Formats: sequence, structure tokens, C-alpha cells
Amino acid sequence: MTNIIFFIAFIALLGSTYGNHQLLHSVKLNNGCQMPLVGLGTSGLEGEKAEMLIREAIKQGYRMIDCAFLYGNQEQIGKAINKVIKEGLVQRKDLFIVTKLWNNFHAFERAKQHIMDNLKQLQLDYVDLMLIHWPTSFDGKIGDPNTPPDHLETWKALEWAHKIGKVKSLGLANFNHKQIDHVLSGAKIKPVVLEAEMHPYYQQKKMKDYLKKNGMALIAYSPLANPGQNAERGFNVLTDPAISKIAKRHKKSNAQVTLRYAVQQNVAVIPKSSSPKRLAENMALFDFQLSDEEMKQMASLDRKKKMILMEHLKNHPQYPFNDW
Ligand SMILES: NC(=O)c1ccc[n+]([C@@H]2O[C@H](COP(=O)([O-])OP(=O)(O)OC[C@H]3O[C@@H](n4cnc5c(N)ncnc54)[C@H](OP(=O)(O)O)[C@@H]3O)[C@@H](O)[C@H]2O)c1
Repeated sequence: MTNIIFFIAFIALLGSTYGNHQLLHSVKLNNGCQMPLVGLGTSGLEGEKAEMLIREAIKQGYRMIDCAFLYGNQEQIGKAINKVIKEGLVQRKDLFIVTKLWNNFHAFERAKQHIMDNLKQLQLDYVDLMLIHWPTSFDGKIGDPNTPPDHLETWKALEWAHKIGKVKSLGLANFNHKQIDHVLSGAKIKPVVLEAEMHPYYQQKKMKDYLKKNGMALIAYSPLANPGQNAERGFNVLTDPAISKIAKRHKKSNAQVTLRYAVQQNVAVIPKSSSPKRLAENMALFDFQLSDEEMKQMASLDRKKKMILMEHLKNHPQYPFNDW
């Protein structure tokens, strides 16, 4: 009898550990919500492949999915999410779904409508995190189409969505510190997170310190410095000799060392992959640790060089990258 009770308790423990295993590797946001440290980037995932990959990622233990209206694939992603929930592979409450409000919808009323349209595309009752995708509004003020709406106007639409239960946490992407300051100065609900480019060649030291001081978390986008597009840039985490040396020591890949470097700093990563094998590789980051010396070596790779500059927006009054 005692054996049977032990066996049942063991199975229950295993089940809860598996179900929550992403929670073990998560960061606590300033509103008390937990955000997984590893998520799946979905830019460029298309059609049926997107559906297959979402299912595969969730099976492998991914719980955070980084979506956006801009990526044009939210319907397929939503379909896949709803299917796996229906099949019992995961419960909605254990997922952390992120989406973003696009530049054309910054004015208050349009932003409200756009938030609801995002939910409709994803076929979800709520999302876990909604970000303003870029500070650069393509939208004019209602009644004054030549002036972009103040960021606080867009922020109020996010706060409205939070109030009616459609968005659990609110955040920003690609804002510089002055633009974040401005949102903080008038926000009733504080942003929990900034999503921004970060990888070994663009480490964002100042921004990390700033976010820490303001109780905000960082989600690193392009955390592998998008190696597929690096030919003309002359840097590549997959072949970087300093990273290879560390990887060899831990019997890990260069991608894993690169991602580990971020999560070991409590920075969440959202690598995109269209291969089930690489999805698994990018999730296997928690069975090794970089030493202090290795962390220093990784820090020394910083070239303070962004890849995503949005140069065509350089003259926009809300262009973020003239400042950090
Ligand atoms: N908020 C924003 O403004 C913003 C901007 C850019 C990106 N993002 C988000 O960040 C996500 C990731 O960024 P990203 O796609 O630019 O760059 P990334 O994740 O750094 O790199 C993606 C590239 O790396 C390859 N890759 C993935 N895992 C690998 C591994 N283990 N070994 C070797 N190669 C690997 C992928 O190829 P395969 O597919 O062939 O594996 C793909 O070509 C996007 O999908 C999006 O969700 C947000």
C-alpha cells in the first residue's frame, strides 16, 4: 500500500515538474507574472510550416511565443496554439503569448481596435504580453494626421486592454531610454519589459542597467545575431573562435553558449528556428553554466554594433537609435 502511495506521489510530482518546467527557468516581472527565459521567435515562419513548428516547439517545452501583427502569420500560429490546447498538450494558462501593436495603429481609438484585431487573428481571449512594436508611429493624430500621437496615447490603449482583461502585461520594443522614461512618467500601469536587439556583438550594457534600475526585464531579439544574414557583416556567433572555444569545453554548440550567456544574465531570448532539431538545441540551455571567466570572455566580444537600424526611418521624429 505504502509503495502504491509513493508511486502515485512520484507520478504527480513528475507531472507537475514537467508541466511547470518552463517556470523553473523564468523571470519574475514587476507585476508578479512569470515570463519564460526562452521563447520562440516567429518572424518568417509561414503557412503550414508555422503550424508544425508551433506544435513541435510546445511539445519540446517552449511556453513563450513571440508573435506580431507585422509577421503576417498570427492566424496560423493561433490555429496551432488552439489545436494543441484542445488536444491537451498544454493548458492556456501555462503559455506566455506575446504580440505587438504595429506602427499604423498608435492613435488611441485605432490602437484599441488593433489590439482586438490581434486577439482575433490569434483566436485567443487574452495575450500575456502586448508590446508597442516600434516608437515610430506611421499613424497621425486623429484630426491632425501630420503629427504622430504621443506614446502615452498608445500606452493608454494598452492600459484599457489590460483593464478589460485582454492583456496581462504591457511592454515596449525598440524604445530608447528617453522614450521609456516618457512612458514611465505618465503610465498608470508600468511597462514590464523592453524587447530589443541583443547578442554578443551588441550587448546593451547601458540599457540593461537602466532597465534593472527601473524594474523592467529584457527580451533579447535576434539573440543569435541572425547568423543566416551575416555574410556581409563579418561576424557570426556560429563560427566565432572565442565562442567555439567555450562551446567545446562544455560540449555544447556555439548557439547554445550564445543563448546561455543571455539567460545567465536573466535576459529572455526568442531565437527563431524553422528546424525541430535546432528548436531542441536552443531550449537545452539549463544543464550547464558559464564560469565567471567565460562570462567575461563573452562580454569582451561586444562591438556595440546594431544589425537592425531601420535606416529608412532615420528622419522620423520618433526614430529611437540616435540615442541608446
Ligand atoms: N521586436 C522586434 O522589433 C523584433 C525584431 C527582430 C526580431 N524579433 C523577434 O526575434 C526573433 C528572432 O530574431 P531573428 O530571427 O532576427 O534572429 P535569430 O533568432 O538571432 O536568428 C535566426 C536565424 O538563426 C538560425 N538558427 C536558429 N537556431 C540556430 C541554431 N541552434 N544553430 C544555427 N542556426 C540557428 C535560424 O535558421 P533556421 O530557421 O534554419 O534554424 C535563423 O536563420 C524573431 O523571429 C522575432 O520573433 C523582434
